Amino acid sequence: MDSSPAFANRMRQMRPSTIREILKVTVQPNIISFAGGLPAPELFPVAEVQAAANQVLRTAGASALQYSQSEGLRPLREWIAAEMQDRGVKTAADDVLIATGSQQILDLVGKLFLNRDDVVLTENPTYLAAIQSFQTMEARFVPVPTDSEGLIPEALPDLIRQHKPKLLYTIPNFQNPTGVTLPERRRVALAEIAARHGLTVMEDDPYGKLRYRGTNIPPVKHWDEAGRVLYASTFSKTIAPGLRTGWVVAPPEVFSRLLILKQASDLHTSSFDQHVEYTYLTTNDQAGHLGKIRQAYGERFEYMDRMLREMMPAGYTWTKPEGGMFLWITGPAGLDSLELLQRAIAHDVAFVPGRDFFPGEGGRNHMRLNFSNSTPDRIREGVRRLSELCRAG
Ligand SMILES: Cc1ncc(COP(=O)(O)O)c(C=O)c1O
Repeated sequence: MDSSPAFANRMRQMRPSTIREILKVTVQPNIISFAGGLPAPELFPVAEVQAAANQVLRTAGASALQYSQSEGLRPLREWIAAEMQDRGVKTAADDVLIATGSQQILDLVGKLFLNRDDVVLTENPTYLAAIQSFQTMEARFVPVPTDSEGLIPEALPDLIRQHKPKLLYTIPNFQNPTGVTLPERRRVALAEIAARHGLTVMEDDPYGKLRYRGTNIPPVKHWDEAGRVLYASTFSKTIAPGLRTGWVVAPPEVFSRLLILKQASDLHTSSFDQHVEYTYLTTNDQAGHLGKIRQAYGERFEYMDRMLREMMPAGYTWTKPEGGMFLWITGPAGLDSLELLQRAIAHDVAFVPGRDFFPGEGGRNHMRLNFSNSTPDRIREGVRRLSELCRAG
């Protein structure tokens, strides 16, 4: 008799994640890790958040510790609505649902739209935890052809006819894992195709405020006159991920259903965290803080790029992101990046092998490197070790 518990069918699709296994060893300080998706901790506004927390406890006291509305804290939703206008999306506070990280939005959107075997269109590769999240809904993944500018909208009508997708998931700014940014004309085309075919688009934008080169491009949602685009973002990369606060902007018929799912999931996002964020945002120079993050990440990218150019053997190329936290290396066709990772860990350096970011096959000769979380010294030493291993390969 099989002695294991009778797990739900949805667990059949779930693969253990290489990234989690890697992260277990990379917390050791001797390992130079380009693996995690971590912001630079020295840039967290610790003193400012502490002051905000004190102020909240002094002035809002018990109400900040009480249960609160599932929609989120009203003043924070208003702040986000104003921020959305700045990003080029006309938004009212009523359109903003606060969530426990934008990761929760992936979960809620998956629950709202995906039955078993429903198709999700994604970039190829795409964000690992989005794959995991939609897998819990037993969804099927169909990759959209991508090039150096992201997904190719012209490929969509055929895919839509053939697979009748319920959802398209995209990360237009400094994509995770590739760092690629979708140009404006493709955003316009995507919004137009979504409207024409009645396709729901989930636009995931955790990194849009982290542009250190080039000019901002409005979100796909900016061109969404048909109300087909759900736009998600987060404070994880602009304040701190430990506060676990993200948001989604959705049209009313989607919003009301996401709200029910949110209630069923966790009642509401931490009231205390939301109070602290609101106080922090309204009592500090957030633009100045973002400027520091952009400058540091820009310098770290430039430095990693230079070290890679100086040290990597021929046959390796990589993306040149204009923002965000990651670059994406393509190695020679024969490279097995999982095998390389095992050797790398033995030499105290880590990255994420490409395979985990592909919903189907692919990724063997790719690696994702994070540059935001390492100081220049560690970048130089880490790239040196990695290059030697590639050369020895
Ligand atoms: C593309 C993408 N979406 C969502 C998230 C989740 O972020 P949050 O901390 O808001 O849950 C991340 C985090 O790295 C991400 O890269």
